[in-house]
Amino acid sequence: TEFGRFGPLIGAIDEGTSNVKFMVFAAKTSEVLTYHQISLKRFSPQEGWVEQDPLEILNAVNECIEVTVDNLRKLDINPADVVGIGTTNQRETTIVWNSMTGQPLYSAIVWLDVRTSKIVDELTKQKGTQSVNAVTQASGLPLSTYFSSVKLRWLLKNVIAVKDAIASNKCLAGTVDSWLIWNLTGGVHGGVHITDVTNASRTQLMSLRTLQWDKRLLRFFDVPIEILPKIKSSAEIYGYISVGSLLGVPIAGCLGDQQAALVGQGCMRFGQVKCTFGTGCFLLYNTGDSIVHSQHGLLTTVAYKMGPDSPPAYALEGSVAIAGDTLQWLRDSLGIISEVKDSEALAAQVGDGDEGSISFVPAFNGLYSPYWRKDARGVMCGLSERTRRQHIVRAALEAVCHQTRAVADAMAADCAPLRQLLADGGMAQNSVLMQMQADLLGIPVIRPLMMESTALGAAIVAGRAMRVWPTTIPSPPADTFLPALTNEEREMRRVRWEEALNKCMGWTD
Ligand code: G3P
Repeated sequence: TEFGRFGPLIGAIDEGTSNVKFMVFAAKTSEVLTYHQISLKRFSPQEGWVEQDPLEILNAVNECIEVTVDNLRKLDINPADVVGIGTTNQRETTIVWNSMTGQPLYSAIVWLDVRTSKIVDELTKQKGTQSVNAVTQASGLPLSTYFSSVKLRWLLKNVIAVKDAIASNKCLAGTVDSWLIWNLTGGVHGGVHITDVTNASRTQLMSLRTLQWDKRLLRFFDVPIEILPKIKSSAEIYGYISVGSLLGVPIAGCLGDQQAALVGQGCMRFGQVKCTFGTGCFLLYNTGDSIVHSQHGLLTTVAYKMGPDSPPAYALEGSVAIAGDTLQWLRDSLGIISEVKDSEALAAQVGDGDEGSISFVPAFNGLYSPYWRKDARGVMCGLSERTRRQHIVRAALEAVCHQTRAVADAMAADCAPLRQLLADGGMAQNSVLMQMQADLLGIPVIRPLMMESTALGAAIVAGRAMRVWPTTIPSPPADTFLPALTNEEREMRRVRWEEALNKCMGWTD
C-alpha cells in the first residue's frame, strides 16, 4: 500500500477513569499526530459507591475517534493510513450487558468502589480461608474491594436484571476493554467478546500460570464461566471496527492502562520500573518471565504478552488508589482550587516545614499497596491558624510521593532497590510533584517529554501485531529531576507522614 508522508499510522484508544482519548501515532517515529479527549462523569449513589455509565464511555470513545479523524483530514493526512488500533483502559471496572440488546444491565462499577467490603469480609472469614491471601497464589492478588471478582459477585447477587439475563443465557460480563471491543467490532451484530491477559489478570479470576479462567477461582467467587470473555494475548487482531470513519480497521492490541504505560515507557526488561500518576498512581516493576509473590504488600500481575505465541512477562505492582483524584477533590468538593493545574503554582508558594504545613492522607476509599486497609479513611493532621490552601495543596502532592515511596520500599525489599523512576501520566506534568518525588525517594525521577505513555503502549502492541512498529526504539527525550534533600530531612518527613498514616486506620469497620 502507498502511505502518506507519515507512513502507516496506529490509533490508540485510552479509556482512563477520568478521561477518554483517541491518539494517532506515526508508527515509524512514535510521533503523536493528533488526538481528542473527553472527560468522563462519575456517580456516587451512596457513600463509597463509584459508578460510570457504560454508554457514556462508549459514546465518548466513538466521538474521540470521529473528531480525531476529522483532525487528520484537516492536517491533510489520509485516515486510510490508520492500519490498526490498540485499546487501553482503566482496569478492574466491571460491566455486565445483554448480548441480544447490547444494553448495560447495570452501571459500570468502578475500581475505586467499596460496596463489596462486606463480601470481602465474608470471603476472608469463610471456612477454610481465614486470610486475605486465600487466592493470592493463583491470582497474584489479595481479597480486596479493588478487583472485578467481588464486583461481579455483587452484581450477580444483587441485580435482578443480571440474574434474569444469566438464566436466559444473555448475560455478557467484562472489564472496560471487553465492553468497548465487543461494541466496536459489531455489538449485537457479531461483536467479539474478548479480553487480554493483562486485563484478565485484574479480575482475580485468571490463573497467572495458565493464563486461563481458573476453575477454583470461579468457584470461590461463584462466577459462571459462560458470561466471561475469551482471554487473548495483548497483541493480535481481535476483530474489525464495524462503524464510523475507521470502518474495517483491525483492533490489534489491548492492555490494561498501567501495563500499557510500562510498555510505552520501554520497560521491557527485568528490573525496569515505571510510575503513572493518573487518577490513582501505579508503579510496575517488570519481573520478566518470573511470577514473583510479594512479601511486602505488592500485587503480582501480567505485564504483557506480545502475541498468541509469545511468552508472558510478569510484573510486581504497587497500586495507590488516590493520586490526581485528590486534586479533583480539592477542586470539586472543597472548591479551594479552580483548576487542577493551579496546584503546581500554589504548592510552590509554600515550603516544607513552613508554619501552617500539614500532613494529609487521602485514603478516601481505603488504602491499597502496600497496606491493604479497607478500613482506612482520609485524615489531615497538624492544622493551625496559619494553614492556608497552599499548604493543603502541597500536602496533597506530598501524599502521593510518600505512598509512592512506600511502594518503592516494598519493591526494594521484594526484588532490588530502584535506581531511577520513569514517571508519566497527567499528574506528572506537575514539576513540583516530580521534584518532591525525587526528593522523597532519593533517586532521579525521569519524565519523558511525551507523557502519554499509556496511549503509546497501546499503539506499540497494535503496531507490533500489524508489523509496522520498529522493534528497537531509541530512548525518548526526557526531563530529569534529581533529589535535593539530605537523608535526615527525608527520614524526618517520612516519620511525620507515617504518624498521620497511623491515624487513618480503623475508621470504618
Ligand atoms: O487499576 C486502576 C487503574 O487502571 C486506573 O488507572 O489511569 O485511570 O488512574 P487511571
